[in-house]
Amino acid sequence: ILLTLAATVAAYLLGSLSFAVIVSRLMGLNDPRTYGSKNPGATNVLRSGNKAAAVVTLLFDALKGWLPVVLVRWFGPPYGLEEGTLALVGLAAFVGHLWPVFFRFEGGKGVATAAGVLLGISGWLGLATLATWVIIAFFFRYSSLASLVAAVFAPFFYVLGAGMAWYSDARVGLAIAVMSGLLAWRHKDNIRRLVQGQESRLGAKKK
Ligand code: G3P
Repeated sequence: ILLTLAATVAAYLLGSLSFAVIVSRLMGLNDPRTYGSKNPGATNVLRSGNKAAAVVTLLFDALKGWLPVVLVRWFGPPYGLEEGTLALVGLAAFVGHLWPVFFRFEGGKGVATAAGVLLGISGWLGLATLATWVIIAFFFRYSSLASLVAAVFAPFFYVLGAGMAWYSDARVGLAIAVMSGLLAWRHKDNIRRLVQGQESRLGAKKK
């Protein structure tokens, strides 16, 4: 239980590294919290016009979700760290991104980090969810809509995958559902803009 607690806190601290802010600062760009949607995330960094910065943000925000999950998956069992811990560390990294202790608890929407967590839980789960994002983004050109649809599908992919012989665990399934719920809630402004037809499309410059 102590190890689980330590792993969860470590994952939360890692998740608290807001790479949109860090990468922008290191690359001499404006703070993403000051333009576009004001969200510290890869989509908004893309609105700065710097694609490399957006890609690096996406990768590192995903990595911080993926890493704690795979560390528990690969190295945890001999120490008694099982699916319950895996679910907790994934959720903790995601929560860290949303409410980062290093950035006055003002974080992002969790899309990249959730993708990393899902990939860590199962490559197939991650790929199926990413494919959903890509398909929606390709046809509709809204990052937020793609994220919302992918979030709705993720728990179903997990249940479906469980039926097709990946391992399944109620706590992991619950963590995925909670992540999807929080992610959708963090997109409430995006949902309003989508309904009003005012959401900015991928590839459009900042307003
Ligand atoms: O990465 C979050 C994305 O779904 C929406 O971002 O900046 O358009 O609010 P944004």
